[in-house]
Amino acid sequence: TPLYSSAASDVYKRQIHYYMKVGIIGSGGREHAICHKLSSIKKVKQLYCFPGNAGTAKIAQNISINLDNFDELKNFIKLNKIDLMIIGPEKPLVDGIVDFLEEQNIKVFGPNKVASQLEGSKIFTKNLCKKYNIPTANFGIFQNIDDAEQFLKETKYPIVIKADGLASGKGVYICDKPEEAKIAINEIFEGKFGIANNALIEEFLKGEEMSYFIISDGKTVKKFGTAQDHKRVSEGDLGKNTGGMGAYSPSRLINEELDKKILSKIIEPTIQGLKEIGTNYKGFLYAGLMIVEGEPYLIEYNVRMGDPECQTILPKLKSDLLEIFLSCCNEKLNETEIVWHNKKSLCIVICSNGYPDQFNKNVLIENLSKIKLGTNEYCYHAGTELIDEKIYAIGGRVLNFVCLSENFSLSRTQIIDSIKSLNWNGGFYRKDIAYKVINE
Ligand code: AMP
Ligand code: GLY
Repeated sequence: TPLYSSAASDVYKRQIHYYMKVGIIGSGGREHAICHKLSSIKKVKQLYCFPGNAGTAKIAQNISINLDNFDELKNFIKLNKIDLMIIGPEKPLVDGIVDFLEEQNIKVFGPNKVASQLEGSKIFTKNLCKKYNIPTANFGIFQNIDDAEQFLKETKYPIVIKADGLASGKGVYICDKPEEAKIAINEIFEGKFGIANNALIEEFLKGEEMSYFIISDGKTVKKFGTAQDHKRVSEGDLGKNTGGMGAYSPSRLINEELDKKILSKIIEPTIQGLKEIGTNYKGFLYAGLMIVEGEPYLIEYNVRMGDPECQTILPKLKSDLLEIFLSCCNEKLNETEIVWHNKKSLCIVICSNGYPDQFNKNVLIENLSKIKLGTNEYCYHAGTELIDEKIYAIGGRVLNFVCLSENFSLSRTQIIDSIKSLNWNGGFYRKDIAYKVINE
């Protein structure tokens, strides 16, 4: 008889690869939610977060290195033998971090530089839409102020004007009259959002927005949930635009018919279009949609999960997130099931007083450790830092409270109770998140 049965040696072989070290790039609520999900998976031996926040500090090793220096990052990954890297935010993706790490034989989850133009260049995406008949707002691309102004004299209002590159949610103007449009065009070409060779002018679509997510390994596409975020700072969706004040999932708009339309008219031709220019889409893809009378229109793509949508959606995931990431890196997503809890998830973001304008930094948050969260409640950190075991607010969006329950109203009530017990006077939040699906 052999010394080891073949079954035993299989177990042994598997165990060699059993425990993994995973690194996550980013410092927001999205990254804390990803870290938190991974930390519950036995196979994950060690987590690193670059640079992370006070929340990730509890479950991962926070590493503060210059993320613009890919070499430094690579050296750390190699030295510490990190098995898999997850890229949270768009900037490193658009800068080509995936291509760079893959050249170094490092496993990485996220789209490459060419594919990341879907978010990095609005004009790239618009041209793709045009080529493949993907429904989107009618548009024109203008290379200079004079041509743009000429067009803006003759067009109908409201009209939407956008800078081309990454502008962190800014760089989009919705103009009701020619005078506003003139200011927008001048600001864009004067370089308010970086050097501008182009401005995009597009038709205003009147409908309701929805965030739609998929995950792909380059071959297979799987759905990754829907959500509705609240971008405006004040209740009733009024005031300035922000990174996101809260969200709920699923979106109230989604149904089977709309789902099919989104996949066949928007997602599939996009993935196919990228293939035709010689690239595969690996990673999360976030379609920002406007639903107009039951028809989906693409407003924008993001090449990552949304924030706060990620915090809202991930707690609903039943399947093993590590397996999902690995199957994407190994082009085996078709073999991996993605199963969800059939619950209503809601997220409220607590922001520093003053956000999105000036706010104070390094404001102490006491009581966090005293909050008692139930089994379906989560508190994800965003702009926080741990200094001498104390938690300080250092960013505009500070904490995300999430609750999963049978209905949105209950989720929201539970969250507001938690926030009240935190009793932090350094911040504020919207009490009306998901008002369109909560009838009181
Ligand atoms: P974006 O950064 O492209 O997501 O644009 C910011 C916000 O502007 C979106 O979330 C929409 O609310 C709005 N928006 C952008 N494009 C349009 C459009 N063509 N029609 C109506 N609203 C738009
Ligand atoms: N929630 C909007 C975004 O992540 O861009």
